[in-house]
Amino acid sequence: MRELLPDEPRYRDALAHLGESGSIEHLATPALVCDLDRFDRNLERMARITADAGVSLRPHVKSHKSSYVARRQLESGAAGLAFAKLSEAESVLRALSLDGTDASISALITSPLSSAAQAWRATELATRCDVLVVVDNVEGVVELAQSADGHAALGVLLDVDVGLGRTGVAGVDQALRVVEEIHRHPQLRFAGAQGYGGHLQHLNGRAQRRDATQRSTDRFSEVVAALESRGVTVALRTGGGTGTAGIDIELGVFNELQCGSYIFMDREYRDALGDDPEGRFEQSLFIAARVISTNQPNFVTVDAGLKAMATDAGAPLVEGHDQATYGFFGDEQGLIVPGSSDTFTRGQRVMLVPPHCDPTVDRYDVMWLARRDVVEGWATVTARGCSQ
Ligand SMILES: Cc1ncc(COP(=O)(O)O)c(C=O)c1O
Repeated sequence: MRELLPDEPRYRDALAHLGESGSIEHLATPALVCDLDRFDRNLERMARITADAGVSLRPHVKSHKSSYVARRQLESGAAGLAFAKLSEAESVLRALSLDGTDASISALITSPLSSAAQAWRATELATRCDVLVVVDNVEGVVELAQSADGHAALGVLLDVDVGLGRTGVAGVDQALRVVEEIHRHPQLRFAGAQGYGGHLQHLNGRAQRRDATQRSTDRFSEVVAALESRGVTVALRTGGGTGTAGIDIELGVFNELQCGSYIFMDREYRDALGDDPEGRFEQSLFIAARVISTNQPNFVTVDAGLKAMATDAGAPLVEGHDQATYGFFGDEQGLIVPGSSDTFTRGQRVMLVPPHCDPTVDRYDVMWLARRDVVEGWATVTARGCSQ
């Protein structure tokens, strides 16, 4: 079942012309647009790379927050889904089961939970599908055990800090304490370890990225070896992202990758990865914007500003206008300085390459699905705002 769009004036024109040649011109802007041809190739490429390497792919839903994309990823062979937060999982899994998709999929929550209340929610979710939760402290384990008492066994993964410092046990001693606690509770099932190197993903240059990834992976391997030398099997070894996927495969330590951005890409990843093997994913996500004023001699103004995209990674690119530059012009507008061969006229549609895909997607209710200039349909951003 397709999620319905509210009957709102801003959607009507696009819906009335769906599937028609040129229908992209009927989108009310700014609008989030996914180029389906490129998206399909990205989906297939990562599925093939991981399958050829004998590594499982558990795409991270935080990049798209959409049940449509999650379903496409599962259909293309994903072993399960990774979610940043519980509510992201709750909303996307609910939408997937409404769509008739098998709800017994494996769902990994990649951030440690913060309270007993969250542990209860994880346990509740585990009555509907196979839930894995990461932990990095003993209190978190105790909360999970208390909430899971009498329920189906919850899968628990040790979160290992591989150098990012955001979450995860800092070394072998902490790891042993947490895993010992997990084993004290029969209602918890120790499933393996996670080591996510967020600090590695956008490092410029493959040699530098590979060296840094090797060092991070060594930290992970040290913890795994310490556990296995004590007879603890670390069955699932999950981590990695779009920027390190090829390197993670070469290093051969993770048996599951959690890549997220590869389906869309963004300016930040394009800058960092360039022609590296990891960079061969295509830009499929755009913000459609329109020129609203051309009265100034040196620039034109468009209707997409700070509210239209996440700005942590700088400015967007203007697709198809390599010499044009975008500048933020307040909350609602941006300016484009044309390149020498560019002319921009009032009402003209421009496609912006988002600086950072994940938090940009979270600003939209709807992602329009297009092939070239034909809008074929839409996907709701199911878990928009779900960061709880
Ligand atoms: C824990 C975790 N795993 C995987 C990813 C996916 O990384 P990427 O979007 O770079 O592929 C992220 C992204 O932030 C993450 O936080």
